[in-house]
Amino acid sequence: MKNLKKSQIFLIATLALVVVLFVAYRITIAPPSAELAPEARVAAILEDGGCAMCHSAESELPFYASFPIAEGMIMADIEEGYRAFDVMPLVEALADGAVPDPVDVAKVEKVIADGTMPAAKYYLMHWGSQSTDAKGDIVAAWARDYRVAYYGDGLEGDRAGEPVRPILAAEGVDARKVALGFALYHDTRLSVDHTISCASCHGLNTGGVDNHQYSDGVEGRMGGVNAPTVYNAVYNFVQFWDGRAVTLADQAAGPPVNPVEMAYTSFDEIVAELKKDEEYVRLFAELYPSEGITQASITNAIEEFERTLVTPNSAFDKWLMGDAEAITAEELRGYELFKEHSCATCHVGPNLGGLSYELMGLRRHYFDDRGLELTEEDNGRFKQTQDERDRHRFKVPGLRNIELTWPYYHDGTRLTMYDAIRDMALYQCDVELEDADINSIEAFLRTLTGEYNGVKLTNENHYGEVFHHDHDHDHDHDHDHE
Ligand code: HEC
Ligand code: HEC
Ligand code: HEC
Repeated sequence: MKNLKKSQIFLIATLALVVVLFVAYRITIAPPSAELAPEARVAAILEDGGCAMCHSAESELPFYASFPIAEGMIMADIEEGYRAFDVMPLVEALADGAVPDPVDVAKVEKVIADGTMPAAKYYLMHWGSQSTDAKGDIVAAWARDYRVAYYGDGLEGDRAGEPVRPILAAEGVDARKVALGFALYHDTRLSVDHTISCASCHGLNTGGVDNHQYSDGVEGRMGGVNAPTVYNAVYNFVQFWDGRAVTLADQAAGPPVNPVEMAYTSFDEIVAELKKDEEYVRLFAELYPSEGITQASITNAIEEFERTLVTPNSAFDKWLMGDAEAITAEELRGYELFKEHSCATCHVGPNLGGLSYELMGLRRHYFDDRGLELTEEDNGRFKQTQDERDRHRFKVPGLRNIELTWPYYHDGTRLTMYDAIRDMALYQCDVELEDADINSIEAFLRTLTGEYNGVKLTNENHYGEVFHHDHDHDHDHDHDHE
C-alpha cells in the first residue's frame, strides 16, 4: 500500500463505494418476492412506489417535506397527483381481498409498464421505488388474471389480458317484459303533449342517439347536454354524464318528468294516461300482478328492454375472441395506438368507458380553450356531490358504435370522430397526434360497430345536421352536404 499515491487510494475508495452503492441499489430495486401472492406483490409495488403520498386525499408526507424548497414542490405534486388519480380504493381493495375497480387496474398497469410512475423526483429520493420491467411484468400478469376473472367473457391466450372486452349477448331477460318495455320506449304518451317518446332522442336506427348537439324536448325546448346512446348503456356503472341515476330504471324515471324533455309534472299523470289503454292495463296486470301500472313497473319494463340493447359481434370483438383476420393491419395499429397513448386507461371494459368519472381536461385546459361560456352542465359530477375535486368530471362515455353517435363530448361540440380523437389526445393525454395516427385510431374505432338483434347497426340520419337543425322534419336534407 505504501507505494500507492494518495490520488490512487482515493480512486480505489471511490470505485469501491460505487460498487457497494450499485449492489445496494440492485437489492432495493428488486421486485417483491415471488413467494408472495400476486395481490401482495402489487400492493408492495404501490407501497414502494410511494403512490399513496401523491395520490390520496390524506397524504403522509416524507421527512424531507419540511425542507423549505422541497415543501412547495411536494405539495404541488400531491395536489396534481390527487387531482389525476386516487390510488386508495385500489390499495384498500388489495389489503382487504376485495375486487378492485377495472379502471384503477388499467391505470396502474399502464404507468408501471411505461415506467412513468412513481415520478422521477420521488425515486431519486427513495431508492428502489423505481418501476422496472420486472415490476411491469408482475402487474401485467396480475391484471390479466384479474380481467379473466372479473369479466368472465372467456377471452383466451394473447387476448386474455386486453383492457377492452367483448360485448356479450343479453341473457336472462323476460321476453314479455322486453316487449312491453319496447312499446313504452316508443310511446309518445310518455310526454305531456304526446309528441315525444324515448325513441325521439334515442332512435334505435340512429345509433341510439339523436345526432343533435342538444336534444329537442316537447315544444322544441332544448336541454344543455348531448344525449348519450342507449346501446350498451347497461354496461355503464351509473347513468347520465353526472351519474345521477344508478340503475336504468332510475334513469328511465327521469325524462318523463324532466321539464325540457317529456315535461309531465308527476308520474301519477303518466300512470293515469296509460290506464286509459286497456291493452296496457291487461299486460301490466299479467306481468306485474301485485302492482299493475305504476312508476316502478313502467320503469322496470323499460329497463328490461334496455338490457337487450347490446351490440355484440363487432369486427373488433371477433378479433378479441381469436379471429386474427377480423380486423385489418391499419385497424390493429389503431388499437395499439389507443393503448399506447393511454386511451385504454379510461375507455376500458366491454363498452370502452362507462366505468368511472374522469376529468375533462386532465392535461390541458379544455374549458379555457373551448371559448364558450361555462354552463351548469360543464360542472359534471360536481353538480351531484358539490365536491370541488369533481368539477368537470364526467362519466366516461362508451365508444361502441361511435361512428354513428355524432356529435361528440357532453357539450356536443365535436362533429367528427377525427376532431374528437385529436382533442382527446391533446386534453387528456397531452399528445399532439400525427394525422396518420388519428386516422388509424379512427379506423380502429369503426371496428367497434356491432349488431342489434343480429343486424349490423347503421344510422339513417344524414351526417351534418347537428348544430343548426330546424324543426321542419319533412324537409329533405339529402343533398345539403354533397
Ligand atoms: C411525487 C409524487 C408522485 C408519486 C410518488 C406518484 N405519482 Fe402518479 N402522478 C403524480 C402527478 C403529479 C401526476 C399528474 C401528472 C402526470 O401525469 O404526470 C400523476 C399521475 C398519475 C396517474 C394518472 C395518469 C393517467 O394518465 O391517468 C396515475 C395512474 C398515477 N400517477 C399512478 C401512480 C402510481 C401507481 C404510483 C406509485 C407507483 C405513483 N403514481 C406515484 C405524482 C406522483
Ligand atoms: C328530449 C330528449 C330525450 C328524451 C325524450 C329521452 N332522453 Fe334519454 N337522454 C337525453 C339526454 C340529453 C341525456 C343525457 C342527460 C344527462 O346526462 O344529464 C339522456 C340520457 C339517457 C341515458 C343515459 C345514458 C348514459 O350513458 O348515461 C339513458 C339510458 C336514456 N337517456 C334513456 C332514455 C329513456 C329510457 C327515455 C324514455 C323514458 C329517454 N331516455 C328519453 C335525451 C332524452
Ligand atoms: C383521463 C381519462 C380519458 C382518457 C385518457 C381518454 N379519454 Fe376519451 N373521454 C374521456 C371523457 C371524460 C370523455 C367525455 C368528455 C366530455 O364529454 O366532455 C371522453 C370522450 C371521448 C370521445 C367522445 C365520446 C362521445 O360519445 O362523446 C372519444 C371519441 C374519445 N373520448 C376517445 C379517446 C381517445 C382516442 C383517447 C386517447 C387519445 C382518449 N379518449 C383518452 C376520458 C378519457
